[in-house]
Amino acid sequence: MAIRKIARMGHPVLRQVGRELTPKEIKSPEIQRLIEDMIETMHEYSGIGIAAPQVHESIQLAVIEFDEDSDRYPDMGDQELMVICNPKITVLDETEQSFWEGCLSVPDLRGLVPRPRKVQIDYLDETGSPKQIIAEDFLATVFQHELDHLAGKLFVDRIRDITKLSFIEEYQRYLSPAQTDSDEGELED
Ligand code: NI
Repeated sequence: MAIRKIARMGHPVLRQVGRELTPKEIKSPEIQRLIEDMIETMHEYSGIGIAAPQVHESIQLAVIEFDEDSDRYPDMGDQELMVICNPKITVLDETEQSFWEGCLSVPDLRGLVPRPRKVQIDYLDETGSPKQIIAEDFLATVFQHELDHLAGKLFVDRIRDITKLSFIEEYQRYLSPAQTDSDEGELED
C-alpha cells in the first residue's frame, strides 16, 4: 500500500469526468491496489471519503468511511468502508439541507453547500457486484460530494451564497454552527 499525492483545485484531473470501469477491471490487481492506496490515503489525511480523480486517476471510483467515534464528526453516525464504482445517483427527496463542506483537494477552505437530503445510489462494489444504497441526511451529502468528484465537480461549484466560503480559521471563529447557533452541519472529505 502507498499514500498517494492529492490533486489540488486547479489541477485539470479534478475537472475531468472519470471513465467507467468494467467489472473485470475492478477485480484486476491494478484497481485493487489503487483501492487499497485510496483507503490508506483517506486514513492518512483523516478524510471521510476520497475519489479517484483526487489521486490523479480519472476513473469512476470512490471510497467512503467514517466513524461515530471520530472527534471531527461526533454526531453523524457511522458508515462502514464502502467502495463505489460507476455510481448512478437518483434524488429521492429534493428538500435541501446545507452542510459546511471541506475537501482534501481544496485545502484550508470551508463552504456552505445546499444539496438534496435523500438520494439513491446504484453502483458496483469492489468485487464488481451491483449494489444499491439509500442515503439520507449527512450521508447523502457525503455521497453527493464524492460523486461530484467523478463528474469533474468540486464543492465550491455548488456554493450558492459565495459569502459562505471561508478559510477554516475564520470559519471556526465567525461562521461555524457553534458560533452562529444554526442547524447547519459540517463535513470535510
Ligand atoms: Ni472532496
